[in-house]
Amino acid sequence: MTQRAGSIRKAVIPVAGLGTRFVPATKAVPKELLPVVDRPAIEYIVEEAVRAGCTDVLMVTGRGKGAIEDHFDQAPELQGALEAKGDDQRAGRVGRSSELGRDVHFVRQGEALGLGHAVLRGRAHVGDEPFAVLLGDDMIDEEDRLLERMLQVQTERGGSVVALMEVPPEHADRYGCAEATPLGEDLVQVTGLVEKPAPEEAPSNLAVIGRYVLHPRIFEELERTQPGKGGEIQLTDAMLALANADGDGAGVTGVVFRGRRYDTGDRLEYLKAVVQLGERHPELGEDFRAWLQDRVPARGPA
Ligand code: UTP
Repeated sequence: MTQRAGSIRKAVIPVAGLGTRFVPATKAVPKELLPVVDRPAIEYIVEEAVRAGCTDVLMVTGRGKGAIEDHFDQAPELQGALEAKGDDQRAGRVGRSSELGRDVHFVRQGEALGLGHAVLRGRAHVGDEPFAVLLGDDMIDEEDRLLERMLQVQTERGGSVVALMEVPPEHADRYGCAEATPLGEDLVQVTGLVEKPAPEEAPSNLAVIGRYVLHPRIFEELERTQPGKGGEIQLTDAMLALANADGDGAGVTGVVFRGRRYDTGDRLEYLKAVVQLGERHPELGEDFRAWLQDRVPARGPA
């Protein structure tokens, strides 16, 4: 089934994970709400989906994640108080997340049984059409149009599309890793996928990162996917089945991303994200760069 260009409108954002890498910060606060400079990570991610044309966003949430829904709700008291003070700029910032929230829907995962299980919870909302998946703790720099490229590739080639990034071999056990054959400058045909392999068993240094465009046939595969690595229902296992299947909706293309990605669920990567985006912030960047320069004089330009 090949889609008309620009016809993929639905995105699923799973945010029901436990955030164990970032405790205790994530004990009571969802990791997706940790601020990256002055906006929570999840707001950047919803903005990215909308920018790519996905105007219908479904978040898969869980217990303790209610504040994410509040973030995308209207906030008349706060907005009213800012407007009464004549602070239109801050009122506008509050209003932006409420505006984004008009097209955000929520479903509960129930139990955090794995990313594959979370995506399957989106089945009724998504229906029988290709859709994007953006992980709620994985930010792609807004200047690097990865999702747009992936939507274009799905439209042209059908099947499913996964974002891949070259990682140091010793980090293979943090990711799903792809076995792949080259197709073009940034494209590969995925022939195998292994979830968090030991570095010596990784099929390549191409790691799966948090962007997917999935054919709805993924739901049938997820229904029969058994718990895999870590006892979780893994999305990579269902994608592997599609990579090796025949017929409508089969096949997985990898888009090799060479831009900037920030894994905000990891403490060190989170710190790097705050510094890099802080340096480029339109209001804070200049002062922040000057402070950094003072503190670490030998560092290069931003
Ligand atoms: P992660 O593995 O990064 O999330 O899943 P986690 O389990 O919350 O993190 P750690 O490893 O314990 O720190 C990637 C994405 O999938 C979601 C997470 O919320 C995150 O956005 N997820 C994961 C679910 O929605 N449900 C799950 O059962 C697992």
